[in-house]
Amino acid sequence: MSIARAAEILRSGGLVVFPTETVYGLGADAVNPRAVARIYEAKGRPQFNPLIAHVSGLTEAERHAHLHENARRLARAFWPGPFTIVARRRSESPVAELACAGLDTIALRAPSHPMARELLSAFGGPIVAPSANRSGHVSTTTAQHAAEDLGDRVDLVLDGGPCQIGLESTIVAVGEDGAVALLRPGAISRGEIEAIVGPVSSAHAAKVQAPGMLESHYAPRARIRLDAAAPQPGEAYLAFGAPAPAGGATLSASGDLVEAAANLYATLRALDATGADVIAVAPIPPHGLGEAIRDRLARAAAPR
Ligand code: TXA
Ligand code: MG
Repeated sequence: MSIARAAEILRSGGLVVFPTETVYGLGADAVNPRAVARIYEAKGRPQFNPLIAHVSGLTEAERHAHLHENARRLARAFWPGPFTIVARRRSESPVAELACAGLDTIALRAPSHPMARELLSAFGGPIVAPSANRSGHVSTTTAQHAAEDLGDRVDLVLDGGPCQIGLESTIVAVGEDGAVALLRPGAISRGEIEAIVGPVSSAHAAKVQAPGMLESHYAPRARIRLDAAAPQPGEAYLAFGAPAPAGGATLSASGDLVEAAANLYATLRALDATGADVIAVAPIPPHGLGEAIRDRLARAAAPR
């Protein structure tokens, strides 16, 4: 069975692409630094960005981090699911330091995708996994896209179908004083988090920075022009709240932000593949999942 084989590959220091409900992950044994190094090599990362350690749940997470009660509340509310908690790392955590890029914090997430959960259970330990894409490319939301991007650099690709959410997890940092900062917007909205722990600050206000939040991290080849009411001649158009125009694509014809999130990377890839120099993107409302979609597009639009 492929899950058992995937767990065996992880145990022997190999790399396995696996599905999560957000995006595909490029997984390795979190406690094996050589395996972790292979991740950076396979991704061609320009630096050692810290990685998310995927765990089965709160009990396992407590072995790796000092979790304030606010972190536990958030874990109980949103795990398993598209939610990552950054907290101070326990000195006794066996997770490779390379995976945390030398920080004294660790990022933890319990994914909900059944195949990810089966893999975690068969492997029996934490699996570090960045999004399964080459550095600077967009995240992948199908096994085929992940295989196209990483191909022979990985030992196995588990196919769990298209990712339901299609955007990376929401990341919060929870300090030892319980202060919560939003480091990366995602499927779990700021409002949902604040309903559990009260006011949440933003990444720039927080001491903890996500080094991976480089301006041009989520970049297709084409340039991106945001908030474009209509395309200029020669631009490929990515619509929202309208059907796909000729030669373009739509995030959601009906203006549904959940559908738009799920379509974001695949449509960017498709328009990038047309060879257009510029992808003009229709205005996306800044609320709910729209915040995360706009965040990704703004990064893709950043000069590089
Ligand atoms: O949905 C997701 O989160 C996917 C799936 C595979 O779980 N993973 C993902 O990983 O998006 P990656 O490596 O592409 O993004 C992880 C982000 C990076 O921006 C990284 O800098 C940040 O998490 N991060 C990891 N550890 C951190 C830490 N200790 N402190 C601050 N940021 C951290
Ligand atoms: Mg990534």
